Amino acid sequence: MSSFPDARLRRFRRTGGLRGLVRETHLSLDQFVMPLFVAPEALHDEALPAMSRLTVDGTVHEVEELVRVGVRAVILFGIPEDKDEEATGAWEDDGIVQRALRALRPAFPDLVLMTDVCLCEYTSHGHCGVVVDGEIHNDRSLELIARTAVSHVEAGADVVAPSDMMDGRVGAIRDALDDRGFESIPILAYAAKYASAFYGPFREAAGSAPSFGDRRSYQMDPANVREALRECELDLEEGADALMIKPALPYLDVIRAARQAFDVPIAAYNVSGEYAMVRAAARGGWLDEQQAALESLTAIRRAGADLILSYWTKDLASWL
Ligand code: PBG
Repeated sequence: MSSFPDARLRRFRRTGGLRGLVRETHLSLDQFVMPLFVAPEALHDEALPAMSRLTVDGTVHEVEELVRVGVRAVILFGIPEDKDEEATGAWEDDGIVQRALRALRPAFPDLVLMTDVCLCEYTSHGHCGVVVDGEIHNDRSLELIARTAVSHVEAGADVVAPSDMMDGRVGAIRDALDDRGFESIPILAYAAKYASAFYGPFREAAGSAPSFGDRRSYQMDPANVREALRECELDLEEGADALMIKPALPYLDVIRAARQAFDVPIAAYNVSGEYAMVRAAARGGWLDEQQAALESLTAIRRAGADLILSYWTKDLASWL
């Protein structure tokens, strides 16, 4: 290879057209999933509009708009009327997510309807599994998690995404789906989900902060990457169709490692705290939201993510 002055990398940076020709990473709405929070009562969030709660009707209206601007996929989270020890609201036939799915499915046949499968929004204690003697009981949680996934699919979900981090949940969900003839429904496993401080705004929106302790006995230690690959491998063995890394920006190395180790689709969740940091800085006048968001999302794609769950998905429609 030649070097300066023969080589001048600025030559291809001179105009927008030239830069476009050599751009290695692209953002397309095809690869984005918009999270939505369905609740019995609407609650608008001024500072973080994408974290607003919507009623079932409000969700239908919002999705109408999303589809109109070109969004292709949404992931639903539910805030139930009541919470209990068994997370009844997560798996009952007329739960809030199930009702939203039944309203959306016939109205938007081409939209990808994803659901987050977890118990934390629905348990009285806010943990992602069943509590026995003060601990999150792994195996007793599996049945409820699998039941939740089945009820979502029965109501019209295209993809289920378990985010609880119990061991064996992917296998339990796969078996339960297959038993009911849902062998064609893919599982997007939150495979490497870290015990992160960046979920703060989500827990506020979803009302899912744990009432005691924290999630470190089931979500991953932020210090580990080899363990993340083991999580990915185990989820694939259990039948996961795609893997998710979460959060995204502080874990770009994990996204890259998973990309290199596995040939399945890799998703990344650009979480609520990542969105909130940029929004807050933009409100303070310290950075430009659109530029910072586009740069963040491009970096996540460059690290190796095929698809991204992002609160900027709706904004992207006008930015791209
Ligand atoms: C449910 C769940 C959480 C998020 C997605 N699914 C919260 C948590 O684990 O505490 C976080 C998403 C975000 O912060 O945007 N377990």
